[in-house]
Amino acid sequence: MSDAVNKVTGCKEHIKLSREAACEGMVLLKNDGNTLPLKKGTRIALFGKGSVAYIKGGGGSGDVYCAYVRNLYDGFGIKEKEGKVIINKKVGEFYDDYLKKERDDGKEIIGIHAIPEPILPRKLVAKAAEESDVAIITISRFSTEGTDRKEEGDFYLTEEEWDMVSAVTEAFQKTVLVLDVGGMVDSSYFMDADRIPAVLLAWQAGMEGGLAIADILCGDVTPSGKLVDTFAGTFADYPSSEHFEESDVYINYYEDIYVGYRYFETMPMAGELVNYPFGYGLSYTKFELSDIIMAEKDGVITADVRVANVGTYDGKQVVQLYYSAPQGVLGKPARALCAFKKTDTLSPGESQTVHMEFKVRDMASFDDLGKIQKSAYVLERGDYRFYIGDSVRDAFEVEYIYTVEKDTVAEQLSSRCSPCKLPRRMLADGTYEPLPQREEVFYYPLNAPITEAAPADPVMFDGVGKKISVDGFVAQFTDRELCEFMGGDPNVGVSNTSCFSGMQRLGVPSVPTADGPAGLRLDSHHGIATTAWPCATLLACTWNPDIVEKIGAAGAKELKENGLNVWLTPAMNIHRTPLCGRNFEYFSEDPLITGKMAAAKARGIQSVGVACSAKHFAANNCETNRIKNDSRVSERALREIYLKGFEICVKEADPWTIMTSYNIINGIHTAESYDLIMGILRGEWGFNGMVTTDWGIKNNQVREVKAGNDMKMHQGYPDELMEALEKGELSRADLEACAKRILLAYKRMGL
Ligand code: BGC
Repeated sequence: MSDAVNKVTGCKEHIKLSREAACEGMVLLKNDGNTLPLKKGTRIALFGKGSVAYIKGGGGSGDVYCAYVRNLYDGFGIKEKEGKVIINKKVGEFYDDYLKKERDDGKEIIGIHAIPEPILPRKLVAKAAEESDVAIITISRFSTEGTDRKEEGDFYLTEEEWDMVSAVTEAFQKTVLVLDVGGMVDSSYFMDADRIPAVLLAWQAGMEGGLAIADILCGDVTPSGKLVDTFAGTFADYPSSEHFEESDVYINYYEDIYVGYRYFETMPMAGELVNYPFGYGLSYTKFELSDIIMAEKDGVITADVRVANVGTYDGKQVVQLYYSAPQGVLGKPARALCAFKKTDTLSPGESQTVHMEFKVRDMASFDDLGKIQKSAYVLERGDYRFYIGDSVRDAFEVEYIYTVEKDTVAEQLSSRCSPCKLPRRMLADGTYEPLPQREEVFYYPLNAPITEAAPADPVMFDGVGKKISVDGFVAQFTDRELCEFMGGDPNVGVSNTSCFSGMQRLGVPSVPTADGPAGLRLDSHHGIATTAWPCATLLACTWNPDIVEKIGAAGAKELKENGLNVWLTPAMNIHRTPLCGRNFEYFSEDPLITGKMAAAKARGIQSVGVACSAKHFAANNCETNRIKNDSRVSERALREIYLKGFEICVKEADPWTIMTSYNIINGIHTAESYDLIMGILRGEWGFNGMVTTDWGIKNNQVREVKAGNDMKMHQGYPDELMEALEKGELSRADLEACAKRILLAYKRMGL
């Protein structure tokens, strides 16, 4: 498409924003002896195939076809022209030759079966060490949906990477490591390595990743990203690891709410297992926090904090506010994030007062067993304490204490999605308690009707020659038309993920959808290059919802320009284990940052009239055998960890559509789960948008309709629905309820 027609898709402004976000989400893990930023004129040698075959993001729904991808040679090439560094050409030629030969032999350069690192000729390394001051090694990783990562040679280095790291660090006094990865990886080999004084966790940073890395390493940008996942000493240290590969038909979430830092900060001795804690990230400059004022009014706690740049570089700081609730009878994590705020860019000497707030109710715990009050969010009596700082570990206690005089029910809910095969769960002291099991059923009884939230205003549709209500409009569908309406339609235009169904006779158009979290994903044969944004985890590491909202709006404009109405993002499952193959598409191990980032993206997307699809609802934390895998989880962990992000996104951003997941929760497919969709999503949170399945799922559509899952993507089973209607297993009212929600979502898209 020529520029004249193509005004925003892959445009310069969007690509600039992609680079800006990339710079903001990279996390400086180590910088001994102020190795970084590189001094002017530093002679560098770039090692690692990823410095040439730079990995911009993962595969599947999180892939993007874009015009180009900038690697580290591109980034440092620009810096070389500016006189900032001198690049060792011989090392670059070695990688170019290797990659060319492998490519010519038809080998996969980037992908899950990609070629290994080449074994470095020692002479090349020795010569490069003679001629250069600093080695920069890139370690890169790729993963994609449908498969999980592996511990050996993925979380940990491959043999060939070990060989490269040893060869380079033996020859060079100083090696800077760049991690071009989409998820948690081993950090123990570099944490205390003298010859690796600096490490940048650069993530998979989109099409401008190589430029952003060079910006940071050369000091043109001060790093300000902070970890949104805990980097533990070994893979085995994560509480989910022991049982992750036990079965491919179930996963027992024994660790309960103690996921990520909630585990490492709470369990006796577990703190020692952490290499880099949640919230951690270095800067080139220094900040001081002062004048902390906290108060409570009308159930809202506010915190104002003055942040001063007391160093010598411009930079941004993230202020993180954690709380600890009394242990009480339920047990609590030692720390939980309750608010955060990133400053603007502050020059040396400059300061800014940031304001944060959250509800007292947000500190309540879900009492699934009725230790205080069954199925209620409760605030246990005692002192709630607060910690402010720039990581969960460094946060210091604030003088302010909020006291709850007596156990208080913050919200009475009901028991939903309870476990039937999870015998025990972890408590705050690391011991386990037995969990009562409900009888195993394959779908939930539908005997508890849900009152759904109605749309704010009556929405009118064009009937035959007059405006009519949605009820009147739906009444015009024949039974067969209703059944057909509940499945997807084939692609239209450039869409490649099918359309939400239309209904030609009544003038309802097919509604084209598109992936996905890292940008508008179109098939390359259309020749439309779109903007490839950094992966979601990097975006979360910005701790800057404003930039994520801008990306949401920018990406959605690209959809709009290409005639697409639904962007299948934000993806927002929790990083329960480092091995989940889709972690790069998801934000964090923490539900608050997940929810805030997802809400920001959703707001941005919908601000331009495109629908977002918050996915995958819920507990889709494993890709192996994903459509048959049962996430066995307690009601408390489900609500406090795995649903919390969705709850925040729904309540703050009102997404017009939500996609259920492939997996099962406690024995029931999410798309068939009345408890999950009608009970929690619609009944408790007031969601009045449209719910779709994930693509190609083969569940029983009759149960899906009954559960409130409105549309089966990318194809429905109209014959199955008709048969159920005829047999009386399904009523016309069941189908109409789905059709109305679908039509109301279309109205919001301006259709
Ligand atoms: C993925 C979804 C994606 C859909 C359409 C599925 O395989 O799980 O995230 O949006 O395909 O591509």
